[in-house]
Amino acid sequence: MIDYSNIQYTSAEPEASSMIETFRAIGYSIETAIADIIDNSITAGAKNVWIDYDWKGSKTTLSIMDDGIGMHNEQLIQALRPGSKNPLEERNQDDLGRFGLGLKTASFSQTRKFTVISKAENYVPVFWTWDLDFVNQEKAWKLIRYIPNEESWTKKIETVETGTCVIWWDLDRLTKDTSEDSEEARSKFLGIMDSVKSHLSMVFHRYMDEGLKIYLREREIKSWDPFMIGIDNLQSKPETRLEGGSIKIKGFVLPHRSKLSAEQYNYGKGPKDSWTAHQGFYVYRNRRLLVAGDWLGLFKKEGHYDLCRIQIDLPNNFDDDWQIDIKKSIARPPSIYREQILALAKDVRNQAVEVYRHKGKVLKRKLASDEYFPFWEERARHGKRFYKINRKHPLLNELLSKSGDLVSDIEKVIQFIEETIPVPLITLQESENEKPHGQPFEGIDHNAIKETMQKLFNGFVASGLSIEKAKARILNTEPYNFYPEYIEFLANE
Ligand SMILES: Nc1ncnc2c1ncn2[C@@H]1O[C@H](COP(=O)(O)OP(=O)(O)O)[C@@H](O)[C@H]1O
Ligand SMILES: [Mg+2]
Repeated sequence: MIDYSNIQYTSAEPEASSMIETFRAIGYSIETAIADIIDNSITAGAKNVWIDYDWKGSKTTLSIMDDGIGMHNEQLIQALRPGSKNPLEERNQDDLGRFGLGLKTASFSQTRKFTVISKAENYVPVFWTWDLDFVNQEKAWKLIRYIPNEESWTKKIETVETGTCVIWWDLDRLTKDTSEDSEEARSKFLGIMDSVKSHLSMVFHRYMDEGLKIYLREREIKSWDPFMIGIDNLQSKPETRLEGGSIKIKGFVLPHRSKLSAEQYNYGKGPKDSWTAHQGFYVYRNRRLLVAGDWLGLFKKEGHYDLCRIQIDLPNNFDDDWQIDIKKSIARPPSIYREQILALAKDVRNQAVEVYRHKGKVLKRKLASDEYFPFWEERARHGKRFYKINRKHPLLNELLSKSGDLVSDIEKVIQFIEETIPVPLITLQESENEKPHGQPFEGIDHNAIKETMQKLFNGFVASGLSIEKAKARILNTEPYNFYPEYIEFLANE
């Protein structure tokens, strides 16, 4: 430990306005910013949250009010102080806060001026305002007691017994230089409010299902459950627990489209309006959703995993391990759990793919009489066995028909491959080696399969085959018969 008592020191306080500009660049979207404000409402015990806006072009205001415990003057000033809580300090178990910054960073990300008005039990309402222009002028961390139409805001907070209202009243990022009369600007703004609504319906769905009410302009927002709990044909895996039970992971395979009504299928598309966008992990911290449908860098998103969604539940004391960021929109599994989570996810992903594989197999069975196209065939020559490549295989057939002058060269190469195939070596390996022989394209990129599958399909359909028949023929062609799950995703122009 250094003895600081005899060491010279100087003050180097942060320069207020540049610090605030830094806050503004953290990268919140309006959706994540509002969610961060609502986190505070939930921690304050709110049962209701009201989001209101008043469209006035560049003078638009947006407010988020709750009926939580509220704050008295000293608490409010402390709440408005950047870094009001040390992130290392242990938090109450159900606290949704993280760095003691959210209220400030989320608000400044959207506005140059914001006010918090609050009413605690047995206190009259108090309010304070952060105004970036004033901070700039004073070059100091100073709040002002000013808000346009003070009376109407005081009236608003008087409608709750206790509670807090955050008012963003200079939304420069959203509405700068827009005029109230511009229909285009107005509808853009309303579109953004709509996406705020769907974001919140997802982020707080578990709180909403337990009674929290969030209103956007007096209309209650309905929750969106990514796992569609309670729906028929939903498959769920048993819960896995890590870290002595405090981390819980549960995989779900959602029902195939054919088992859903059109309405249910659309519901499943979620706020991102896409099943593919919504596959992956859903990471919750204290039941508040941080990450919605992301493979956390472990896998890519691909159509045939559309039915796979995995819930991860974290408490609020693993923020460091899981690299929870200021915006509470990022989480990364710590390396000690990586393998375990990877194995678990693979298992659920396989189960999800199986739904499509099963569909493919059913289709194949339905049209079982269709000709089978292997790539290799066994032939006898002078009493000996040989292996030949099937010239009738649709892919080869097509290649040869397009090859013009090259046909005889290609023929020769194929013949050489056939004549030199190391059958004795393969036989020996198969009988002596314990490692199993892999299946075609196992463990490598499948783009070649998907691309040629689509091409074949287009060709079959163009040649007059019905869509069903074309699919069945592909399923009867090597190596596509190994991957019936891709049939589902053929584009049908
Ligand atoms: N709506 C609210 N109701 C009551 N207290 C609040 C509210 N919003 C913020 N606070 C207080 O302000 C503090 C700072 O909030 P914030 O900047 O979001 O950081 P954090 O949530 O990480 O603590 C909170 O810890 C809480 O004590
Ligand atoms: Mg907070």
